[in-house]
Amino acid sequence: MSDSAKQTSSAIYPDLYEGHFSSLLIPYKDLDSRCKEIAEHIHATYPSDEPLVMLCILKGSAPFYNLLCNHLSILGHPFMIDFYRVKSYEGTGSSGTVKHFGDLPKSMKGRHVLVIEDIVDTGTTLKSLLPTIAEKDPKSYKVCSMLVKRFHSEGSEDDDEDDGGEITKQIELDNNLIGFNIPNAFVVGCGLDYNEMYRDLRDIWILGEEGIKGGGYDL
Ligand code: IMP
Repeated sequence: MSDSAKQTSSAIYPDLYEGHFSSLLIPYKDLDSRCKEIAEHIHATYPSDEPLVMLCILKGSAPFYNLLCNHLSILGHPFMIDFYRVKSYEGTGSSGTVKHFGDLPKSMKGRHVLVIEDIVDTGTTLKSLLPTIAEKDPKSYKVCSMLVKRFHSEGSEDDDEDDGGEITKQIELDNNLIGFNIPNAFVVGCGLDYNEMYRDLRDIWILGEEGIKGGGYDL
Protein backbone atom coordinates (compact mmCIF):
# COMPACT_ATOMS: atom_id res chain seq x y z
CA MET A 1 0.00 0.00 0.00
CA SER A 2 1.34 3.49 -0.89
CA ASP A 3 1.83 6.44 1.50
CA SER A 4 -1.26 8.16 0.06
CA ALA A 5 -3.79 5.51 1.08
CA LYS A 6 -5.45 4.57 4.40
CA GLN A 7 -6.30 1.06 5.52
CA THR A 8 -9.06 0.38 8.09
CA SER A 9 -9.17 -3.35 8.92
CA SER A 10 -9.05 -4.81 5.38
CA ALA A 11 -10.65 -1.75 3.69
CA ILE A 12 -8.48 0.66 1.72
CA TYR A 13 -9.18 4.17 0.46
CA PRO A 14 -7.06 7.07 -0.85
CA ASP A 15 -6.12 9.85 1.61
CA LEU A 16 -8.05 12.20 -0.67
CA TYR A 17 -11.30 10.60 0.59
CA GLU A 18 -10.52 10.89 4.33
CA GLY A 19 -13.73 11.67 6.28
CA HIS A 20 -16.00 11.31 3.22
CA PHE A 21 -17.82 8.15 4.38
CA SER A 22 -20.11 7.53 7.33
CA SER A 23 -19.39 3.78 7.49
CA LEU A 24 -18.07 0.72 5.69
CA LEU A 25 -21.01 -1.33 4.40
CA ILE A 26 -19.52 -4.29 2.48
CA PRO A 27 -15.83 -5.25 2.50
CA TYR A 28 -14.28 -6.39 -0.78
CA LYS A 29 -13.67 -9.96 0.45
CA ASP A 30 -17.44 -10.38 1.11
CA LEU A 31 -18.20 -9.01 -2.38
CA ASP A 32 -15.77 -11.44 -3.93
CA SER A 33 -17.06 -14.49 -2.03
CA ARG A 34 -20.67 -13.59 -2.89
CA CYS A 35 -19.64 -13.30 -6.57
CA LYS A 36 -18.20 -16.82 -6.34
CA GLU A 37 -21.54 -18.13 -5.01
CA ILE A 38 -23.51 -16.33 -7.73
CA ALA A 39 -21.15 -17.71 -10.42
CA GLU A 40 -21.68 -21.24 -9.03
CA HIS A 41 -25.46 -20.73 -9.25
CA ILE A 42 -25.15 -19.47 -12.85
CA HIS A 43 -22.94 -22.45 -13.75
CA ALA A 44 -25.48 -24.87 -12.21
CA THR A 45 -28.54 -23.32 -13.89
CA TYR A 46 -27.43 -22.25 -17.39
CA PRO A 47 -26.41 -24.75 -20.10
CA SER A 48 -22.69 -25.29 -20.59
CA ASP A 49 -22.98 -26.19 -24.28
CA GLU A 50 -23.79 -22.64 -25.42
CA PRO A 51 -22.36 -19.25 -24.40
CA LEU A 52 -24.33 -17.13 -21.96
CA VAL A 53 -24.43 -13.44 -22.94
CA MET A 54 -23.11 -11.42 -19.98
CA LEU A 55 -24.36 -7.86 -20.59
CA CYS A 56 -22.56 -5.30 -18.43
CA ILE A 57 -24.56 -2.14 -17.76
CA LEU A 58 -22.02 0.70 -17.68
CA LYS A 59 -20.46 2.37 -15.94
CA GLY A 60 -21.25 1.27 -12.40
CA SER A 61 -21.38 -2.50 -12.95
CA ALA A 62 -17.88 -2.85 -14.41
CA PRO A 63 -15.98 -3.96 -11.23
CA PHE A 64 -18.78 -6.36 -10.15
CA TYR A 65 -18.93 -7.70 -13.73
CA ASN A 66 -15.21 -8.30 -13.66
CA LEU A 67 -15.38 -10.29 -10.40
CA LEU A 68 -18.33 -12.35 -11.62
CA CYS A 69 -16.78 -13.11 -15.03
CA ASN A 70 -13.54 -14.14 -13.35
CA HIS A 71 -15.39 -16.70 -11.21
CA LEU A 72 -17.30 -17.99 -14.28
CA SER A 73 -14.00 -18.43 -16.12
CA ILE A 74 -12.57 -20.38 -13.16
CA LEU A 75 -15.64 -22.69 -13.34
CA GLY A 76 -15.12 -23.13 -17.09
CA HIS A 77 -18.56 -21.72 -17.94
CA PRO A 78 -18.75 -20.33 -21.52
CA PHE A 79 -19.91 -16.71 -21.88
CA MET A 80 -19.85 -13.74 -24.26
CA ILE A 81 -18.87 -10.25 -23.08
CA ASP A 82 -21.03 -7.27 -24.05
CA PHE A 83 -21.59 -3.74 -22.79
CA TYR A 84 -24.38 -1.17 -22.81
CA ARG A 85 -24.57 2.22 -21.13
CA VAL A 86 -27.54 3.86 -19.41
CA LYS A 87 -27.67 6.76 -16.95
CA SER A 88 -30.40 7.78 -14.55
CA TYR A 89 -28.82 9.37 -11.46
CA GLU A 90 -27.69 12.96 -10.82
CA GLY A 91 -26.01 13.44 -7.42
CA THR A 92 -27.75 11.26 -4.81
CA GLY A 93 -31.18 11.13 -6.46
CA SER A 94 -32.76 9.50 -9.48
CA SER A 95 -33.25 11.98 -12.32
CA GLY A 96 -36.49 10.15 -13.20
CA THR A 97 -35.45 9.80 -16.84
CA VAL A 98 -33.21 7.05 -18.19
CA LYS A 99 -30.77 7.95 -20.97
CA HIS A 100 -29.66 5.11 -23.30
CA PHE A 101 -26.31 5.38 -25.12
CA GLY A 102 -25.70 3.50 -28.39
CA ASP A 103 -27.27 0.22 -29.54
CA LEU A 104 -27.84 -3.02 -27.68
CA PRO A 105 -25.53 -5.84 -28.88
CA LYS A 106 -26.86 -8.18 -31.61
CA SER A 107 -25.36 -11.18 -29.75
CA MET A 108 -28.51 -11.46 -27.60
CA LYS A 109 -30.78 -12.87 -30.32
CA GLY A 110 -31.62 -16.53 -29.56
CA ARG A 111 -29.27 -16.68 -26.52
CA HIS A 112 -29.68 -16.69 -22.74
CA VAL A 113 -28.85 -13.19 -21.45
CA LEU A 114 -27.83 -12.03 -17.97
CA VAL A 115 -28.14 -8.28 -17.44
CA ILE A 116 -25.45 -7.30 -14.92
CA GLU A 117 -26.42 -4.26 -12.82
CA ASP A 118 -24.64 -2.45 -9.99
CA ILE A 119 -27.68 -1.54 -7.90
CA VAL A 120 -31.47 -1.62 -8.13
CA ASP A 121 -33.05 1.28 -6.28
CA THR A 122 -36.50 2.37 -7.54
CA GLY A 123 -36.36 -0.06 -10.47
CA THR A 124 -36.81 2.81 -12.98
CA THR A 125 -33.62 1.98 -14.90
CA LEU A 126 -34.55 -1.68 -15.36
CA LYS A 127 -38.13 -0.82 -16.26
CA SER A 128 -36.76 1.28 -19.10
CA LEU A 129 -34.04 -1.20 -20.12
CA LEU A 130 -35.72 -4.64 -19.99
CA PRO A 131 -38.37 -4.07 -22.71
CA THR A 132 -35.61 -3.04 -25.16
CA ILE A 133 -33.75 -6.28 -24.33
CA ALA A 134 -36.92 -8.34 -24.85
CA GLU A 135 -37.24 -6.78 -28.34
CA LYS A 136 -33.90 -8.37 -29.31
CA ASP A 137 -35.45 -11.85 -29.05
CA PRO A 138 -33.19 -13.52 -26.47
CA LYS A 139 -33.92 -17.15 -25.48
CA SER A 140 -34.27 -15.83 -21.90
CA TYR A 141 -33.16 -12.78 -19.93
CA LYS A 142 -32.67 -12.17 -16.21
CA VAL A 143 -31.15 -9.49 -14.00
CA CYS A 144 -28.11 -10.11 -11.81
CA SER A 145 -27.42 -7.15 -9.51
CA MET A 146 -24.62 -6.54 -7.00
CA LEU A 147 -26.99 -4.67 -4.63
CA VAL A 148 -30.70 -4.10 -4.11
CA LYS A 149 -31.99 -1.35 -1.85
CA ARG A 150 -34.54 -3.45 -0.07
CA PHE A 151 -35.14 -1.84 3.31
CA HIS A 152 -36.04 1.58 4.61
CA SER A 153 -33.26 3.17 6.63
CA GLU A 154 -34.05 3.99 10.27
CA GLY A 155 -35.99 7.20 10.63
CA SER A 156 -36.89 7.41 6.94
CA GLU A 157 -40.22 8.97 5.98
CA ASP A 158 -41.69 5.61 4.97
CA ASP A 159 -41.05 3.86 8.29
CA ASP A 160 -44.68 3.80 9.37
CA GLU A 161 -45.75 1.76 6.32
CA ASP A 162 -46.80 -1.75 7.40
CA ASP A 163 -44.48 -3.61 5.06
CA GLY A 164 -41.84 -4.95 7.47
CA GLY A 165 -39.49 -2.27 6.17
CA GLU A 166 -39.19 -3.86 2.75
CA ILE A 167 -39.34 -1.66 -0.31
CA THR A 168 -41.36 -3.30 -3.06
CA LYS A 169 -39.55 -3.31 -6.40
CA GLN A 170 -41.37 -2.74 -9.66
CA ILE A 171 -39.58 -5.67 -11.28
CA GLU A 172 -39.08 -9.35 -10.52
CA LEU A 173 -35.67 -10.28 -9.09
CA ASP A 174 -34.16 -13.71 -8.38
CA ASN A 175 -32.45 -13.76 -4.95
CA ASN A 176 -29.86 -16.25 -6.24
CA LEU A 177 -28.67 -13.52 -8.61
CA ILE A 178 -28.54 -10.69 -6.05
CA GLY A 179 -25.30 -9.88 -4.23
CA PHE A 180 -26.65 -8.09 -1.15
CA ASN A 181 -29.88 -6.49 0.02
CA ILE A 182 -28.97 -3.16 1.61
CA PRO A 183 -30.73 -0.37 3.54
CA ASN A 184 -32.02 2.72 1.76
CA ALA A 185 -28.78 4.75 2.04
CA PHE A 186 -26.58 6.31 -0.66
CA VAL A 187 -23.60 4.02 -1.22
CA VAL A 188 -20.37 4.37 -3.21
CA GLY A 189 -17.47 2.14 -4.24
CA CYS A 190 -16.94 -0.99 -6.35
CA GLY A 191 -18.14 0.98 -9.39
CA LEU A 192 -20.84 3.01 -7.65
CA ASP A 193 -20.31 6.75 -7.87
CA TYR A 194 -21.41 10.09 -6.53
CA ASN A 195 -21.14 12.42 -9.56
CA GLU A 196 -18.40 10.17 -11.03
CA MET A 197 -16.32 10.01 -7.81
CA TYR A 198 -15.52 6.94 -5.66
CA ARG A 199 -15.98 4.27 -8.38
CA ASP A 200 -12.34 3.33 -7.72
CA LEU A 201 -12.94 1.98 -4.17
CA ARG A 202 -12.69 -1.81 -3.70
CA ASP A 203 -15.16 -1.85 -0.80
CA ILE A 204 -18.69 -0.39 -0.55
CA TRP A 205 -19.21 2.56 1.78
CA ILE A 206 -22.15 4.69 2.94
CA LEU A 207 -21.43 8.22 1.72
CA GLY A 208 -21.27 10.85 4.49
CA GLU A 209 -21.98 14.60 4.59
CA GLU A 210 -18.30 15.41 3.94
CA GLY A 211 -18.34 13.24 0.83
CA ILE A 212 -21.43 14.98 -0.50
CA LYS A 213 -19.81 18.39 0.10
CA GLY A 214 -16.35 17.48 -1.13
CA GLY A 215 -16.98 14.69 -3.59
CA GLY A 216 -18.12 14.77 -7.19
CA TYR A 217 -17.20 17.21 -9.89
CA ASP A 218 -19.38 19.56 -11.92
CA LEU A 219 -20.83 17.56 -14.79
P1 IMP B 1 -33.07 2.95 -10.13
O1 IMP B 1 -33.33 3.33 -11.56
O2 IMP B 1 -33.75 3.89 -9.16
O3 IMP B 1 -33.33 1.51 -9.81
O4 IMP B 1 -31.54 3.22 -9.86
C1 IMP B 1 -30.54 2.47 -10.48
C2 IMP B 1 -29.33 3.29 -10.84
O5 IMP B 1 -29.20 4.43 -9.98
C3 IMP B 1 -28.08 2.49 -10.63
O6 IMP B 1 -27.69 1.82 -11.80
C4 IMP B 1 -27.07 3.51 -10.16
O7 IMP B 1 -26.42 4.09 -11.27
C5 IMP B 1 -27.90 4.57 -9.48
N1 IMP B 1 -27.95 4.43 -8.01
C6 IMP B 1 -29.02 4.08 -7.26
N2 IMP B 1 -28.70 4.08 -5.95
C7 IMP B 1 -27.40 4.42 -5.87
C8 IMP B 1 -26.47 4.57 -4.76
O8 IMP B 1 -26.78 4.39 -3.58
N3 IMP B 1 -25.19 4.92 -5.12
C9 IMP B 1 -24.78 5.14 -6.39
N4 IMP B 1 -25.63 5.00 -7.44
C10 IMP B 1 -26.91 4.65 -7.19
